[in-house]
Amino acid sequence: MMHEGVPTANKALIRCLYHSESPLMSKYLNNRQHGFWGTPFKSATNSNRGREMLTLRSPRDDVRIATATPDDGTALILRNEWVNGDYKHMVLKASRAACQAQPGQFFNLLCPAEGSMAPFFRRPMSTYGADPHRGEVEFLYKVTGKGTLALSQLQAGDSLDILGPLGKGFRLQPNWQHIVIVARGVGLATLAPLAEAAHAHHIAMTVILSARSKHALLIPSQQRFERLGARVLTARDDDGTSQLDGIERMLREIIVQHAPDALFTCGSKRLTALLKRLAAEHGIAGQVAMEEQMVCGLGMCQCCTKVFEQDGKPISRRVCVEGPVFDLSEVVA
Ligand SMILES: Cc1cc2nc3c(=O)[nH]c(=O)nc-3n(C[C@H](O)[C@H](O)[C@H](O)COP(=O)(O)OP(=O)(O)OC[C@H]3O[C@@H](n4cnc5c(N)ncnc54)[C@H](O)[C@@H]3O)c2cc1C
Ligand code: FES
Repeated sequence: MMHEGVPTANKALIRCLYHSESPLMSKYLNNRQHGFWGTPFKSATNSNRGREMLTLRSPRDDVRIATATPDDGTALILRNEWVNGDYKHMVLKASRAACQAQPGQFFNLLCPAEGSMAPFFRRPMSTYGADPHRGEVEFLYKVTGKGTLALSQLQAGDSLDILGPLGKGFRLQPNWQHIVIVARGVGLATLAPLAEAAHAHHIAMTVILSARSKHALLIPSQQRFERLGARVLTARDDDGTSQLDGIERMLREIIVQHAPDALFTCGSKRLTALLKRLAAEHGIAGQVAMEEQMVCGLGMCQCCTKVFEQDGKPISRRVCVEGPVFDLSEVVA
């Protein structure tokens, strides 16, 4: 019998991974207790006291990057409300480890439906916010299939099994003055915390928000960027302004006006290809948070492996552990 295309042997391994009592899981999580110092989401002045992280420098590009220690635990739902017809915003009371999540990291959520509606695998979800002081983690998610539909039915007071924070998040250079963020649809969820970290580092930003329509633009997220002092430009499918050549024109103007230090995006392959091309043309740094199909989220099943390029040579990487945030220069777009 197969579940979502995975043979029975792998199914057993993965089921084993998803139980916190699994010695394999505990060993794996313990082994992952290494990371890089990073600024907490809400404020650069938050205390690092008690954080279970080590201070290291990235061997690859010598910038500070953030990785918090993951935890497999039960969180309490405080709110789970519709933002518009497609998206819900969920706020959870979570463990101290979960609340250390950094911009660009994600959680693997055990969506709670039963019977034929039960999704066999967890579903990856970016951290939309994490506040160690309030003990809260937030997600912004689009209801697309059975996993997110199950999430959407949870009420305040229900519990949810969350594994994370997972993966490697965004990196910011302390000497950067201006960054550009290009967010399409649900990519907003991943990029809004990056904007908060940039603001905490006194880095100015221009944000391009792209969506199907005015209705799909997620006004609360737009306001969240504006509150951080970002200049926000919008692009929509329904008035033709989100065409790739239009976005390219906007980006070229921003590059001339602000000489940005870095370009950031999430998810969309066509935006990633555009940003990679412009970043290479203008010698600008850039990062992308990739959204690949995932199963374990822990680097074991290889489901999320993709080909990247380094020094002109192809190289395989697992998006869940070596990413999900990668340098634009490495991505094969
Ligand atoms: C690192 C990461 C972070 C993510 N963060 C968010 C987020 O913050 N908010 C959000 O709404 N979504 C996010 N996603 C996408 C989210 O995981 C999928 O929408 C979710 O798994 C769909 O599950 P489902 O059971 O509801 O739908 P399914 O029935 O599994 O799928 C519905 C549709 O979504 C597609 N899909 C399924 N999984 C993914 C995936 N991993 N990436 C892209 N498309 C997928 C399927 O191909 C199908 O077309 C993220 C994905 C990754 C890998
Ligand atoms: S999802 Fe299993 S290795 Fe990445």
